[in-house]
Order: sequence, then structure tokens, then C-alpha cells
Amino acid sequence: MNQVLLIGAGGVGSVVAHKCAMVPEVFGAITLASRTQSKCEAIAAEVKHRTGREIATAQVDADDPVQTAALIRRTGAKLVINVALPYQDLAIMDACLEAGCDYLDTANYEPKEVARFEYSWQWAYQDRFAKAGRCALLGSGFDPGVTNVFTAWALKHHFDEIHTLDIIDVNGGKHDKAFATNFNPEINLREVTAPCRHFEGGGLVETAPLSLHQAFTCPDGVGTFEIYRMYHEELESLVKHLPTIRRAQFWMSFSPNYLKHLEVLQNVGMTRIDPVVFHGLEIVPLQFLKAVLPDPGELGKSTTGKTCIGNVITGSKDGQAKAVYLYNICDHEACFAEVGSQAISYTTGVPAMLGAKQMLAGEWRQPGVWNMEQLNPDAFMADLQRHGLPWTCVELTPQQAASFQVA
Ligand SMILES: NC(=O)c1ccc[n+]([C@@H]2O[C@H](COP(=O)([O-])OP(=O)(O)OC[C@H]3O[C@@H](n4cnc5c(N)ncnc54)[C@H](OP(=O)(O)O)[C@@H]3O)[C@@H](O)[C@H]2O)c1
Repeated sequence: MNQVLLIGAGGVGSVVAHKCAMVPEVFGAITLASRTQSKCEAIAAEVKHRTGREIATAQVDADDPVQTAALIRRTGAKLVINVALPYQDLAIMDACLEAGCDYLDTANYEPKEVARFEYSWQWAYQDRFAKAGRCALLGSGFDPGVTNVFTAWALKHHFDEIHTLDIIDVNGGKHDKAFATNFNPEINLREVTAPCRHFEGGGLVETAPLSLHQAFTCPDGVGTFEIYRMYHEELESLVKHLPTIRRAQFWMSFSPNYLKHLEVLQNVGMTRIDPVVFHGLEIVPLQFLKAVLPDPGELGKSTTGKTCIGNVITGSKDGQAKAVYLYNICDHEACFAEVGSQAISYTTGVPAMLGAKQMLAGEWRQPGVWNMEQLNPDAFMADLQRHGLPWTCVELTPQQAASFQVA
């Protein structure tokens, strides 16, 4: 029986717990651990209510590899699914090596003091995982995650070479809060306010945050949204592993209301990540802001509308130019009805469960540290269709493809 340890009891952790519990033949015994055990217990009660399955809970400070390794040993976990914060990635990887366990996460490591998004720290574990015969799967969410697998699948089935990649993440959802982020506010705001980088001309090109935008009409009546170019971590691994890519860009939709609040918060210094002294105490403004913003895990009950996340890919096949658009549309209310969460947590949690399923089945369990595009995409793509994230692939005409080619 496979024992798995989930770390992190937030919006994403709740979805992973539910979705793992729904596949008992793979996830035989589940422990959900986090800094605050009462949050794990609340999720365990919901999982029991919706699926009838019992999951164990535990308290852990995952910044401490000794504590985490002890918990891995105590539970007998074969795999840790890390859906805590990116700050914990390296400490949990250390704990996995120490206790002899595989590792999966959904976001690359970031040091707390600087919003720096790169894989170098985790890629540096390659030899240690390979020598230990352990496997680490990086970025098994939607973006990164499914977007990496979409790219690998497109290369395998539609292209001889990929030349351009535009990843477009639209959240067309609405909720009843004046301002909220759809996943952890601290991580979300660090990402959105960082300088934009896209890949072109053989390297990363830096531009001002959110300075380039355009309208994008989603398929199937989801709507038309303004999408903004920004940096996202999968660009780094995709251009490394698919070296024929000449240009790669990431786009995300933001409403005028979100941008208005973001601008004010930035102008007044509330998105700063350096400590300031307040009443004799050092506080980080962004961490304080997180404490007063809505918990994204609580947005599900009031969120309506859909997400539409996908890749526009151009390249060549048999000497001819070709373009495809691969996408998933996910309905916030349907996610809430199924697992009590909004679609952003859902679209992250389902691929985390599916990446874990692939590892436990041995399909993706090679010693070393892997990004999703390095692995065979076929079984994962089939599982997306079965486990709540159905996707569509349409071929685009050169004219349609050109409309996405904003530089
Ligand atoms: N790839 C994707 O598509 C994608 C999309 C969205 C999010 N993500 C990633 O998913 C992860 C989870 O996001 P979320 O929205 O679920 O965040 P969240 O709601 O803030 O939940 C994070 C959880 O981690 C726990 N935690 C934090 N520090 C910890 C520590 N030192 N030890 C143990 N537990 C700790 C928190 O505990 P407390 O409750 O005690 O604070 C909380 O339960 C993040 O890394 C985010 O970047 C990935």
C-alpha cells in the first residue's frame, strides 16, 4: 500500500487531499501535515464527508528538515507532495534525501529575502537524488505543470520542431471580495510585481512588470480578457529542454479592479518584501498584507466563471509551418461542488495528484530531478481527461496563430 505525505494545508493542499482520497488504489494511506494542524484536521473532516476516506493529520514545521525527515519515517511515506510554500522546497528536498523518499512540488524554490524565480537551486540536487536512487518531480501544478506537459505532448504528436510558445493563463472568475489573490497572496504578489522576462534571441529579455498587454478571446464563450506578459518559471525549463524554441512568453489576465488595487498597494509600500520596524518589531509589509487579505482557500463559495489556461505553439511538421492551441477550461462552481475549492486551487491540485500517481505507478520514477516536459506525456494527458481537467487541442491557421504573436 502506497503511503504518501502531503505538506501544506492551504487552498491547493485541500484539493490534493480530496483528489488523492478519490484514487484509493494508488494512494493507499494519506497523511496531511502542515504548520497549523487544525487546518489539516478541518480538511480531513471535509475529505471524510465527501469521499468517506479517513486521512491522518500531523503538525510539522517544514523549514526544519530534521522534523520533516522524522515525520516521513514515522508515516512510512514513499512520496512527499509539497504544497506548502516555495520557501520550503529545499528543506523538504533535504528531508526526503535524509529519510529516503521521493519528492514532488508545484512551484520552484524562492529565497524569502528576494523574489528570484529560478530552478538553479533545485537543479543542483540532481546528483544527490540520482545517487540516492530517489526521484524529484518539479512543478507539477497547472502552470508550471500541465503547460509543460502540453508542450511535450505537442512536440511528440504534432511537431518536428517547436519555434514559439505563448502560455496564456486566463482567470475569468468573479468573487464577492473587493480584492483577493487566487492563491497565496504573498507568493502571488511577489510573482506579479517582479520584472517581466521572456525568452527571445537566445536569452531572457527583461522588461518592466506588466508593461505589455493585449486582448485575448478565450474559446467556448469564456470571454475576452486583457492579458499581461510576465515572467513565469516554466519558461526557464522549457527553453532549456526544448532548445528549438526561439521565443517563449507567458501571459496572465488581470481585471482593471485587480490592477487598480495592485497599483495602490505598490505605491504605498505594502508589497515590499524587506523588513520595516513597526512599534519596535520588524515586519515585512507583504507578509502583513497577506494576513489581512482574504484567504484564497475561502474564495470558492462565492466564485463564479471559468478559467482558461493553455499554450499557443508554432513550429514545423514535415517541412510545413504548423500551429496549435491546447487548453483546458475549468468552471469555478463545478470545482466547488466537487471538492469545496475554487478553480485555481483545483487546477493546481489535480496535476499534483496526477504527477504523484505517475511516480507511484513507476511511469515517471527515474532517479534524479525532473521537470515535467522531460517525461513521457501520454499517460498524464489521458489522466487529465479522466480526473477533472479535460483538454482540447485545435489546429490554428497561420492568421490565427499570428494574432498571438505579440512581441
Ligand atoms: N503550479 C501552479 O499552477 C500553482 C498555482 C497556484 C499555486 N501554486 C503553489 O501551490 C503552493 C500552495 O499554494 P496555496 O494557495 O495553497 O497556499 P496557502 O493557501 O497559503 O497554503 C500554504 C500552506 O503551507 C503551510 N506552510 C507554510 N509554511 C510552512 C512551514 N514552514 N511548514 C509547514 N507548513 C507550512 C501553510 O500553513 P499555515 O496555514 O500555518 O500558514 C498553509 O497551510 C504554493 O507554493 C504556490 O506557489 C502553484
